[in-house]
Amino acid sequence: MANWKMYKTIKEAKNFLQDFIPLIQGINDREIGIAPTFVCLESMSKELKNTNIKLGAQNAFYETKGAYTGEISPVMLKDLDVEYVIIGHSERRKYFHETDEIINRKIKACMNEKLKVIFCIGETIEERQSNKTFNVLKNQIEKGLEGVKDADSLVLAYEPVWAIGTGVVASEEQIEEAHSFIRNKLEEIFSEKADSVRILYGGSVTPENIYSIMKLNNVDGVLVGGASLDPVKFSKIVKYDIER
Ligand code: PGA
Repeated sequence: MANWKMYKTIKEAKNFLQDFIPLIQGINDREIGIAPTFVCLESMSKELKNTNIKLGAQNAFYETKGAYTGEISPVMLKDLDVEYVIIGHSERRKYFHETDEIINRKIKACMNEKLKVIFCIGETIEERQSNKTFNVLKNQIEKGLEGVKDADSLVLAYEPVWAIGTGVVASEEQIEEAHSFIRNKLEEIFSEKADSVRILYGGSVTPENIYSIMKLNNVDGVLVGGASLDPVKFSKIVKYDIER
């Protein structure tokens, strides 16, 4: 899944698709998604209609409608054929002060509208250095998923904050141990249904490191920021095991 963050105008998004769609033609054995900004969703929704690319949004509010200036509701996203919504990204936690409680409400509100949620978790560098990583992940998962029943609509994304946009990718050991910890937590919550929840890795994924990340245990996909803005780079990530 591409997370375009606050990049690309409608025209730039169109240009990207013109280059990108031919590059991933005929690939149907994996899911490809793009989460552009809200303003690009309507035009992207039309352009992606007959393609194998899923549409994602980067956020949603937890009410369906009301006097919440500046917010966008899950109902509005569903109306645009959005399929995935990224919730709890560390940039939302950091710059917009989203708490685990807010994230939990957002996850439930999205699932109520039958949107699939990509729920992001991850520790900061200070938390890792003080050996709090697993405690942080445990808390984020337990609080974020409180009362959430629908494992089928859930995707987890492990994104160590220190690896996002820094060019510093987590080591294979760090990714594997975090993902297996997350899988175990999901089993506690959803029992056998936990196996169907995909766990994505995110943080400085590139065409160069994708292959070694994807072969790790419990890594079912990736959430890509910077490298997804370039059609050639993102297509190489999609085709990580086809064109090596
Ligand atoms: P990055 O961002 O690939 O630029 O590190 C990942 C993300 O924030 O989802």
